[in-house]
Amino acid sequence: TRKIAVSGSASGIGKALAELLREQGDEVIGVDLRDADVCADLSGPEGRALAVESVLRLSGGVLDGVVACAGVSGVTTLTVRVNHFGVVGLLEGLRPALAAAPAPRAAVVGSISGTQPVDPGVVAACLEGDEDTAVALSERAIERGEGRRLYPSSKSALAKWLRRESVTPQWAGAGIPLNAIAPGVVLTPMSAPLFEDEAMRKAMEAAVPMPLNGHATAEVIAEALAWLVSPANTHMTGQVIYVDGGAEATLRGPDV
Ligand code: NAI
Repeated sequence: TRKIAVSGSASGIGKALAELLREQGDEVIGVDLRDADVCADLSGPEGRALAVESVLRLSGGVLDGVVACAGVSGVTTLTVRVNHFGVVGLLEGLRPALAAAPAPRAAVVGSISGTQPVDPGVVAACLEGDEDTAVALSERAIERGEGRRLYPSSKSALAKWLRRESVTPQWAGAGIPLNAIAPGVVLTPMSAPLFEDEAMRKAMEAAVPMPLNGHATAEVIAEALAWLVSPANTHMTGQVIYVDGGAEATLRGPDV
């Protein structure tokens, strides 16, 4: 039995992934604010330490997979705290337990939003591992009325972190593939408010065109994540894979 830790396991993509992995016979250690095997708040260092410690205890110190799905959207400093530092803190804390497994795998959930305009200062602070500065700059962006850039900033920083770290001795050298699935619009509680308002729905559909089969269900994203953390994935690492109905190819075109 493979033991896989999944953050954000109480809702949406993380919940669908936890169910899929359990159906295929894996043991899942769910991490979330509530309704999880490990209840911890990944927005700050103390909650992250609690999450890492609890997962290590429940897994016996050896983990076959970690998938970081927990995330938040909106105009708030929580975007960098949860989507970037929460993910990085969990992965780095659990990396020794992954390194102790025979076929370890790690994956995160990025976003098509990571290709949208960012706050460069926030992204740079994230990549320097400087959470206080990233949060302070986020507050300033909100004051300037540019808070909408924070979610894209958090996802862009995470993608850059992943590309940088995946090929280091700590990850590739330890035999741990590290990849992201970047969805377009997924039908989950997070995106539900976007569908409640007609103007917001139209703006979203213009910003994230999905010519292949439209908006995805959480199960579609879970299937892709499950493959990334399966033993079959021996050689893919450092990749941000867009499972987005063609949004990224539409927006960026053939010349990336
Ligand atoms: P969701 O809101 O259904 O689930 C997110 C889960 O993360 C919730 O259970 C929540 O409690 C947990 N979480 C939030 N803050 C936390 C914290 N501080 N500590 C611990 N757990 C926390 O959202 P969804 O849609 O399943 O999102 C999952 C991931 O997918 C996120 O990283 C999101 O940014 C990403 N994503 C979602 C898209 C969508 O259209 N729904 C599109 C692209 C990316």
